[in-house]
Amino acid sequence: MLPSAKQVENKGLVKKDLLTIDGLSKDEILFLVHDAIRMKKRKQYGHELEGKTLGMIFEKSSTRTRVSFEAAMIQLGGHAMFLSSRDLQLGRGESIEDTAKVLSRYVDGVMIRTFEHEKIETFANHASIPVINGLTDTHHPTQALADLMTIYEYKKTFSGLKLAYIGDGNNMAHSLMEACVKVGIHISLACPEEYMPDTEITAQVQSQAKINGVEVQLTSDPVEAVENADIIVTDVWASMGDEEEAEERIKFFQPYQVNERLCKYAKSDYLFMHCLPAHRGEEVTTDIIDGSHSVVFDEAENRLHIHKAILKGLL
Ligand code: CP
Ligand code: NVA
Repeated sequence: MLPSAKQVENKGLVKKDLLTIDGLSKDEILFLVHDAIRMKKRKQYGHELEGKTLGMIFEKSSTRTRVSFEAAMIQLGGHAMFLSSRDLQLGRGESIEDTAKVLSRYVDGVMIRTFEHEKIETFANHASIPVINGLTDTHHPTQALADLMTIYEYKKTFSGLKLAYIGDGNNMAHSLMEACVKVGIHISLACPEEYMPDTEITAQVQSQAKINGVEVQLTSDPVEAVENADIIVTDVWASMGDEEEAEERIKFFQPYQVNERLCKYAKSDYLFMHCLPAHRGEEVTTDIIDGSHSVVFDEAENRLHIHKAILKGLL
């Protein structure tokens, strides 16, 4: 299913920005996953990005995204600059448009973590360099790519698998829906009625699913979603920016906890995945996230490898 090493070497990516999974073709996704797995196996550093600089703008906190992008640049011979929006003039009201134009004169690519997705689109429209989405309120594409890589490593295929996403219809839910439908994984999402995924993104995913022969199910019943699943995924109940609602959300999300009782409905060799950071005892119990089905730390490691593939492809 994945392209050969020769195809990977010859092909490269044709796209300029990575803002959503939907903006990538199936071939581009398979290319990135294959290249990342290849680099991970070889365990060797390269010089592909020698002399290149990545600017990294963060308007929200990060451990994995920040450190893995910076390490990825260093491992490929390049350099990364951490740019907190608090220290940039952006934080004092300089426009996104001007910031994009100015940074395009200094660095070879920009990775941005921000709130509204429209902000990163505006930045990308005014930048002449590749822009990578390191998480917005509605999308987290680099995490979804690392998740696909992890699934492929364990299951050796995508087509025909069933992924159950349990919890908030948030950025992870959106990017995972888009990713699954692209590569042929059936996805079932169980979310409280009040926290279903965005209707426009869902409609777009469902029409793509029809074309690709993939099932996308939305339910408020976690058992229905997990039934016969190969992969169970969850995420925090209150994302960055939703902190004030955290208390209120607990009463809606309590029935969506991923615990032993729920996981019994999955296939016996199911994988448990979570993008991290996790709240043990809320969206997932300790026995599940630290248990034998959990691959959360491989998933976190794979951010590094997939970012190397993305950076090589775009920069
Ligand atoms: N999963 C993820 O994006 O983690 P960080 O918020 O630590 O970057
Ligand atoms: N949904 C979470 C993901 C964190 C990596 C958030 O946006 O905070």
